[in-house]
Amino acid sequence: MYRPAYPNPRLHPPTPLQFLTIHRWVYVPDKIQTDALVIAIHSCQSSAQKYFANSKIPWHQGSDRKGYITVWPSSTTECWDVSSKASLSHDGGGDSNAIANMIKHALTQYNIDPQKVYVTGGSSGAMMSNVLAATYPDLITAVSLYSGVPAGCFVSSSGGSAQWNNTCSAGQSTATPQKWGDVVRAMYPGYNGTRPRMQIWHGSVDGTLSPRNYDETIKQWTNVLGASTAPVSSRPDTPEKNYRMDDFGASVEGIWAVGVGHSVPSHLDASEAWFGL
Ligand SMILES: *[C@@H]1O[C@H](CO)[C@@H](O)[C@H](O)[C@H]1NC(C)=O
Ligand SMILES: *[C@@H]1O[C@H](CO)[C@@H](O)[C@H](O)[C@H]1NC(C)=O
Repeated sequence: MYRPAYPNPRLHPPTPLQFLTIHRWVYVPDKIQTDALVIAIHSCQSSAQKYFANSKIPWHQGSDRKGYITVWPSSTTECWDVSSKASLSHDGGGDSNAIANMIKHALTQYNIDPQKVYVTGGSSGAMMSNVLAATYPDLITAVSLYSGVPAGCFVSSSGGSAQWNNTCSAGQSTATPQKWGDVVRAMYPGYNGTRPRMQIWHGSVDGTLSPRNYDETIKQWTNVLGASTAPVSSRPDTPEKNYRMDDFGASVEGIWAVGVGHSVPSHLDASEAWFGL
């Protein structure tokens, strides 16, 4: 049962200083039952508190039910910076770096297993999820993102931070799997460790971030993770009617929501299953 959570006294804000310009909120369930961590990243014109209180984003219910800690980064700008060189580089000092610092801090503060760090987000938060997967593959185990664009698709030619990119949002930034993969590899040059498993959700009638970004994001991660761009199998009406689950093997899964617009609601069970929670 959803209970109103804003303002929720148990959503704790510690000092923001060590996280550069963004704020970290943390939700600790009454009963911690696992050493796993979920980072939930809000969309544009939102905040940690609003995202936490959104009934379509049930991650704190998941936290209560399964006993994992959730961290809610809160942007101080309209949207996350997924356009500047700083944010699109490992340890570049941008928003992605700030969120990575939050993850590192939580690992020790809450004794989290570094193999159980999961990231989710919607819209701008989904873009940031892709950027984090590209810039901090060493920190993240798996990602479940809703209605985003490929990492590096919102790049700003002038280097500006948190810029909107019409070419990408309209679905006109298309490239080969190799090129999209190169964009990811360039964000952390020389990295050759394991990379997060990626679950990508998108609505077929998304009017804000063109549905074409679904295919481009799939191309990107299947390339990076060495999977075929053709699904191994596609299951209609999964995880619910009119959704289609495209299985690209163990590392990449796509969920195409037929008839759904921007902001596909979080599917807690399917995202948790992808994470192994
Ligand atoms: C928008 O992003 C594309 C890549 O997706 C890039 O080529 C283009 O320069 C960007 N546009 C602006 C105005 O920065
Ligand atoms: C990549 O692998 C090589 C050889 O195993 C190693 O020397 C190098 O440090 C690795 N690079 C990174 C960034 O981990």
